[in-house]
Amino acid sequence: EKSGYAHFMLKEIHEQPRAMASTINSRLENGLPELHLPELTDEALRGIERIHIVACGTAMHAGMVGKTAIERLTRVPTEVDIASEFRYRDPIVDKNDLVIIVSQSGETLDTLAALKLAKEKGARTLAIVNVVGSSIARAADYVMYTYAGPEIAVASTKAYSVQLAVLYVFALRLALARGTLTKEETRRYVGELDRLPQLLEGLLADTEHIKYLASLFMNCEDLFYLGRGFDYALSLEGSLKLKEISYIHSEAYAAGELKHGTISLIVDGTPVIALATQDAIFEKTISNVKETKSRGARVILFCKEGVEVPQDVADYVVKLPRYEEIFMPMLLVVPLQLFAYYMAVLRGCDVDKPRNLAKSVTVE
Ligand code: M6R
Repeated sequence: EKSGYAHFMLKEIHEQPRAMASTINSRLENGLPELHLPELTDEALRGIERIHIVACGTAMHAGMVGKTAIERLTRVPTEVDIASEFRYRDPIVDKNDLVIIVSQSGETLDTLAALKLAKEKGARTLAIVNVVGSSIARAADYVMYTYAGPEIAVASTKAYSVQLAVLYVFALRLALARGTLTKEETRRYVGELDRLPQLLEGLLADTEHIKYLASLFMNCEDLFYLGRGFDYALSLEGSLKLKEISYIHSEAYAAGELKHGTISLIVDGTPVIALATQDAIFEKTISNVKETKSRGARVILFCKEGVEVPQDVADYVVKLPRYEEIFMPMLLVVPLQLFAYYMAVLRGCDVDKPRNLAKSVTVE
């Protein structure tokens, strides 16, 4: 039941610290990541030549974060595919590849078909799944369960977060096996993962500011989400969440791509949600945000505490706690979920059961 929350979605957003703690803690041993997959020995992990992450919707967005993390930590070339694209494009996959399938329900038809195709092509398959014993869990060579507990709301929230957590643990373990991270470096990252549930509790303890921002933007018809790298992946997820439950049109754009066409849509008053949590590209994203501001955009900027935000870039700034940068997506997603949630509530939408959508998509 909803345990006093107005909607399952809100309850599930608030369950994230616990879900993350269960998912992460079960995979740490002596301060190091542990997959509990005996067949994926260090030697097997070293033999992986390429990784493909295949999923749909929110799970695919988790895959985009996973790709960036895996490539950064391990340098193993990693692609992300939409399952319904992967299965029809005769993908180049062979026995030295690992195909990671991500799914909350474990029943998404296109995702299951993609998994079967990858197996036919001789790749090893690893499923990251929430529902125990689901079709995808049964069909994959290896399974890493996420421990989110049942997710009832159609809009996926806690399942996304735990998918990120598993992908990060996998990336760390792979890096350790391949020697791209030392034990000491890995331990430092693991120490940061340990702090995560507490940081999430902190973010969830005060949601009034996000609710207030939603009240200011609730009547808008179009919204733009901008970001680079990890922040681009989060833009896509924030935008999807908003669209599916509030029915407000929004677009997610790689910040540097805006000027190649879409900026013509930015006019006086257009809302822009700018995500800039990564130091190395902060200035670049800010200069893209300025381009929208000078055309009249109303900007909400999400960044880290302690960064200096130039004057007149944003109308509103939401500061997230300082945290290991590659893990920032696991913090940033929370205010984006809450923003979509409050927008939908304020507009009187049926948050848990948005029109035209089903919790698990078992049609092609
Ligand atoms: O159960 P799955 O993770 O395979 O579902 C994939 C998508 O259908 C799902 O993430 C969908 O995009 C959500 N409604 C998004 O909130």
